Amino acid sequence: MKQQQTPTSEARAAGLTLRGIVKHFGPTRVLDGVDLDIRPGEFLTLVGPSGCGKSTLLRIIAGLEAQSAGSVTIGGRSVDALPPSERDVAMVFQSYALYPHMSVAANIASPLELRRLSLFERLPLLRWLSPRRPRVMREIMTEVRAMAGQLQLEGLLDRRPAQLSGGQRQRVALGRAMVRRPAAFLMDEPLSNLDAKLRVHMRTELAELHARLGATFVYVTHDQIEAMTMSDRVALMDKGRILQLGTPSELYDTPADVTVARFIGSPPINLLEVEASAGGVIRMAGLALRAPGPGRYTIGIRPEALHLGRAAPGLLAARLRRAENLGAEWLLHAETEEGAPLAIRMTAAEHAAADALIGQVLHLSASRAGVHLFGPDGRRVAVEAAVEAPA
Ligand SMILES: Nc1ncnc2c1ncn2[C@@H]1O[C@H](COP(=O)(O)OP(=O)(O)O)[C@@H](O)[C@H]1O
Ligand SMILES: [Mg+2]
Repeated sequence: MKQQQTPTSEARAAGLTLRGIVKHFGPTRVLDGVDLDIRPGEFLTLVGPSGCGKSTLLRIIAGLEAQSAGSVTIGGRSVDALPPSERDVAMVFQSYALYPHMSVAANIASPLELRRLSLFERLPLLRWLSPRRPRVMREIMTEVRAMAGQLQLEGLLDRRPAQLSGGQRQRVALGRAMVRRPAAFLMDEPLSNLDAKLRVHMRTELAELHARLGATFVYVTHDQIEAMTMSDRVALMDKGRILQLGTPSELYDTPADVTVARFIGSPPINLLEVEASAGGVIRMAGLALRAPGPGRYTIGIRPEALHLGRAAPGLLAARLRRAENLGAEWLLHAETEEGAPLAIRMTAAEHAAADALIGQVLHLSASRAGVHLFGPDGRRVAVEAAVEAPA
C-alpha cells in the first residue's frame, strides 16, 4: 500500500475531466464514450488488456490524437482546441526517446532551453553573442542539478544515454519531463522495456516520486500488478470502455464485472459455472448463497479463499494435479469433477498441516469474502444474506 508523504517541492497538480470520449479509426470504434474524473495529485492508472484503447485515451489527453467526440478538461480549462505543447502535461513514453549524442545534463536541460532561450540563443555559433545566455544557462543547470538530486542521477550528469542502465535512462526521461513542472504526467507503459527485477524496483521509485512531487500521474499499463501496487485509483478498461473505477482494494474485493475479477489478482480468480435452484439458492464449497433468481451464474472464488478440509457433504471436490512451493506460500493446482481448473493458495504452515498428495481428491470450503457472483451478462450480482444450509 502507498504511504502518504508531504510533497517536498511546491505541488503543481491539475485535475482532469474526460466527458464522452469517442474515437474511431476508420470504421473501428476504439473508444466508446469514456467518462473519467481524475483528481488533482492522484496516481490514476488505466489498466486493461492490449488493444483496449489505453494508449489512444492517453494520447487524446496529451493532444497527440484528436477525439471523434467528447471533451477533455485539464485544470478546469478545456484543452480540446489546444496543441500538445499548450496543455501543460508531460508525456513519458516506454521508449526513452533521449538524445543519444547529448549528455544526461543536456538531455534534462533541453526542454528548459527550448522554453527560455530564443532560437538565436540556441544556434551553435551565434548563441555565444547573446549577453543573457550565460546567466540563463546557469539557472537552467541549477535546476537540472536539483532534478538530478531528486532522481539520484547526480554522478551521471556527464554521461551519454548509451553509458546508462535501463533504469537510469528511464529516470533521465522522467527528469526531462519533470523540469518542465507540468500540471500532470502522462505515462504510457514506462517500465515495459525494463527487466523484471528493475521493474519491481522502479514501481517503488515511481510511487515514491509521485508522493514527493504531489503531481497528478496518469499511468497506462497492461500489468495489473503495476496498477495495484502504485495507484490511488485504477480505471479498468476493456474494449474501449471503463468497466470499473476504484481503489485497488475496491477492484479486488468487489469486482463489478467478471472481466474485472478475471483481470485483477494473481493467480487469477477461479471461475465456475453454477446453477441456482428454483428458489435462487446456490450451494458451493460449503456456502449457501441466495441469488436474485434461478438460472445459470458464474461464481468467482479467489485462490486464497479456498481451504482444505475433511470430506463432508457440500464441499467442493477437486483432484490435486500439481503443487508449487513459493516459499512462504504454496499454490495448489487442482481440477474439479467437471474438469474445471482450480488454484488454491495457502500459507506454508497450512500446507504442511494438510498433507495433500498429488492425485488425491481435496475437499474444499470457501470463505464468503473471497466469493463473487456474476450474472449471464457478466455484471456482479448482489448475493443476499446466506440462507440456512441444511446438510
Ligand atoms: N493510428 C491507428 N490507426 C488505426 N487503428 C489504431 C491506431 N492506433 C490504435 N489503433 C487500434 O486501436 C485499438 C486500441 O489501441 P491502443 O489504444 O494502442 O490500445 P492499448 O494501448 O490499450 O493496447 C487497437 O485495436 C489498435 O489496433
Ligand atoms: Mg498501449
